[in-house]
Amino acid sequence: MNIHTIKITWPNGKTSKAIVGKDWLEEAEKAGISIPTGCLNGSCGACEIEVNGEVVRACVSTIKNSLSGDLNVQFFYDSFW
Ligand code: FES
Repeated sequence: MNIHTIKITWPNGKTSKAIVGKDWLEEAEKAGISIPTGCLNGSCGACEIEVNGEVVRACVSTIKNSLSGDLNVQFFYDSFW
């Protein structure tokens, strides 16, 4: 099995390395980042983050590979709420 790690830059500017396929919430916690959560089953949207500009529900998503070799994470704010 080939383990691939990727660099993540978090909303506070900190960086960490994570293994592709790991859970977002777990890796955020390890990096000292608190992603808000609600339902933990993908339905409420409380855990939405932007990963390289794409909105992701962190509670039901895993870390994906990136052609650039790194991922930039921002908290997602819906302007309608
Ligand atoms: S916590 Fe509700 S969608 Fe993730």
